[in-house]
Amino acid sequence: MTWLELQRNTDSSKIVTIEKVIDETPTVRTLVFTDELLSKVLPGQFAMVWIPGVNELPMSVMVYQETTKAAFTVRRHGLASTALYSLQAGDKIGVRGPYGNSFTIKQGKLLLVGGGTGLVPLMRLATFLKKTDDVTIIMGAKTKQEVFFEHLANKLLEHNKHKVLAVTEDGTYGESGLVTDVMQRLLREDAFDAVYTCGPEKMMHKVVQIAFEKKIHVEASVERMMKCGMGLCGSCCFGDVLTCKDGTVFDGQYLLTNKEFGYVHRSKSGILENY
Ligand SMILES: Cc1cc2nc3c(=O)[nH]c(=O)nc-3n(C[C@H](O)[C@H](O)[C@H](O)COP(=O)(O)OP(=O)(O)OC[C@H]3O[C@@H](n4cnc5c(N)ncnc54)[C@H](O)[C@@H]3O)c2cc1C
Ligand code: FES
Repeated sequence: MTWLELQRNTDSSKIVTIEKVIDETPTVRTLVFTDELLSKVLPGQFAMVWIPGVNELPMSVMVYQETTKAAFTVRRHGLASTALYSLQAGDKIGVRGPYGNSFTIKQGKLLLVGGGTGLVPLMRLATFLKKTDDVTIIMGAKTKQEVFFEHLANKLLEHNKHKVLAVTEDGTYGESGLVTDVMQRLLREDAFDAVYTCGPEKMMHKVVQIAFEKKIHVEASVERMMKCGMGLCGSCCFGDVLTCKDGTVFDGQYLLTNKEFGYVHRSKSGILENY
């Protein structure tokens, strides 16, 4: 299917059946289902996922090695994500989308910095890169048992010159510390052509600042409260833009002018809250 055909099919709401559940960590699971449209989304795009009887949540669309299959990788958190995480093979969910823009594909020496389920759009991005690109992925987690996608990232980049660096805050696996510490070290040692990031907003804010100061093109995928997912309700407003329609991907130059980035977001009732 071409991208034009994908666009025409956008917002094709449907019910899909979960075919496989993969335990990634004690709190993160990947749910696999068949959907040709979602299997081909651009890196950074998301879907709205209806958990029957509970709620609807925005979820980045995860890659899966079989064509026509797509997936969501969900962390158990509040009511809706825990309900999604608890579904089994054979259960049904509603999906609509894809929504949002996508990362700009640059070439050369690329750095991908992700934390937690923020790695989901970065895994898809890895599948869009040229085989000639030299790719480094920094993946952050609090502790060893929360590290996931390390094997997958190596597999997706097996034909590239690449490095996958796991970083844990408690030092129980990989490098010890924060992803931004490792990023700063890499940038001192090497020149990069572009940086892409997705994860906790404080982390992304630091990543964007570091890259911007070094004059490296940087893009981040920003999360806000989403209801319609398609630019109608305004619940995802982020300064002067709508995250679902104008984003979720924004470049560093814009992000550093948006006073909400890294500092405040809106609650479910629309009130501004500090991060
Ligand atoms: C574009 C996008 C992609 C996302 N991709 C993933 C993913 O791949 N995997 C994953 O585990 N999570 C992802 N999330 C987060 C996910 O949508 C939920 O926010 C999270 O799972 C918590 O939901 P909850 O209802 O269980 O938590 P609750 O306890 O009800 O809410 C906790 C917090 O979750 C956030 N939240 C709740 N509902 C929404 C909503 N409708 N829209 C945005 N934020 C909300 C708010 O910050 C809220 O304060 C994504 C969010 C966005 C905006
Ligand atoms: S979620 Fe409704 S406008 Fe973005």
